[in-house]
Amino acid sequence: MATKLPKSLAAALALSVLAAAAAAATLAPADAVAVRQTQMKELGASFRSLNEELRGDTPDMAKVKAAVAAMNKTSKDLPAWFPGGSGPEAGIKTHAKAEVWSDAAGFAGAAKGFATETAKMQAMVDSGDTDALSVQAKVVGQTCGACHAAFRGKDS
Ligand code: HEC
Repeated sequence: MATKLPKSLAAALALSVLAAAAAAATLAPADAVAVRQTQMKELGASFRSLNEELRGDTPDMAKVKAAVAAMNKTSKDLPAWFPGGSGPEAGIKTHAKAEVWSDAAGFAGAAKGFATETAKMQAMVDSGDTDALSVQAKVVGQTCGACHAAFRGKDS
């Protein structure tokens, strides 16, 4: 008897398989772009949720925790979303600039800066210091912006 997976679960499974393949750098370029754009969107959603909570008078700490944990994990995975050959030269639609690969050290530095600042948020969540967390969330936002400014094209 065939059991049917709910669509959302099937999609999530497909994505996690793709993400694992991305980490192993065995993905076709178009799939690598799809994975990283989806992951970036989720990163954006987590960051938005975090900022919404922090702006309120009484942040929902469960949401804050979930958002920061997701971002912290993501920040470590990020470099694997950019396997060689998945840039604009592949002729696929991507906003990643060729500089991601031609200035690999610069890109790695931007990714590391993001991961380092995000890990600090995790420590602040653990200690429950939401004031420090609000300040640190801005620093993290700057690391997103710094990478985008150097390595993401405007609208291509
Ligand atoms: C080390 C570099 C780097 C960091 C750090 C980074 N990004 Fe990105 N981001 C990129 C690149 C490159 C793209 C373009 C990917 C593509 O089109 O293939 C992108 C794309 C995106 C997109 C668009 C996804 C889509 O729909 O195509 C969003 C949203 C996004 N990033 C959010 C964030 C947020 C929020 C942060 C920080 C919390 C962040 N990014 C940190 C490099 C980075």
